[in-house]
Amino acid sequence: MMKRYIFTILLALFTTQFSPSVWAEEPIEGLELETAPINRSDMDSIKRGAKFFATNCVSCHTLSYLRYDPIVKEAGIPTDKKPLAINGVVPPDLSLEASSKGVDWIYTYLHSFYKDTSTASGVNNLLFPGTAMPAILAPYQGEQVRVEKPVYDLLHHVEWFDLVKPVRPGSMKPDEFDKAVADLTNFLAYAAEPFHEQQQKIGYWVLGFLVILFVLMYMLKKEYWKDVKRHKE
Ligand code: HEC
Repeated sequence: MMKRYIFTILLALFTTQFSPSVWAEEPIEGLELETAPINRSDMDSIKRGAKFFATNCVSCHTLSYLRYDPIVKEAGIPTDKKPLAINGVVPPDLSLEASSKGVDWIYTYLHSFYKDTSTASGVNNLLFPGTAMPAILAPYQGEQVRVEKPVYDLLHHVEWFDLVKPVRPGSMKPDEFDKAVADLTNFLAYAAEPFHEQQQKIGYWVLGFLVILFVLMYMLKKEYWKDVKRHKE
């Protein structure tokens, strides 16, 4: 009986932790998400990401659930604009994108646009083949083209940078670009959970309180039993 419970719990944990998120369309087989190097408590990074979003993304995307957010306001991001369709697709609202797709998905998606003359926008994306979004970040990242999967990879696991090569440099160096995309991703993580940091802090207070309570209870228990023992003797 007990064993079955443990097995069910382990199975649930395994499937929620290790299964890939739901894909909009089939990405390249074996493509792994790159871990987004973000720190959710780094407010400066979140603010830089908000600025970057305000300059590069608001012409198409909204953040409609963040109407009253101070960081969004400060960056000058409009929250109620109706986006126009691009290549026949209305750009989705990105308020909850980091919760639905995950930060690693966003970080990898924004890195993996490549030139493809067969599409309407002239580009394609490794993670989201056929995406209607143009390569907005190409001026910063540079242009890249698709290369074949390396044959030496027996496990068929590849990352986006194994499948593209740069053909024209952008205005940012690769590490600068990574940092800008990390800030942007961090901002979208904040957008999806603006109270994440506060919740974490409250969590520590609650745990601290429980520890103190435990110590007090333990001392109280000792105090009571002292009398009981004395009576017995
Ligand atoms: C020219 C308009 C345009 C701009 C500017 C733009 N996007 Fe997009 N974006 C789109 C469209 C259209 C889609 C929908 C793609 C589809 O479903 O095929 C999209 C999709 C996305 C998605 C995936 C949504 C999903 O889950 O399917 C993310 C993430 C995203 N954009 C982030 C950004 C970020 C960050 C910026 C700013 C750096 C940005 N976009 C700038 C048009 C744009």
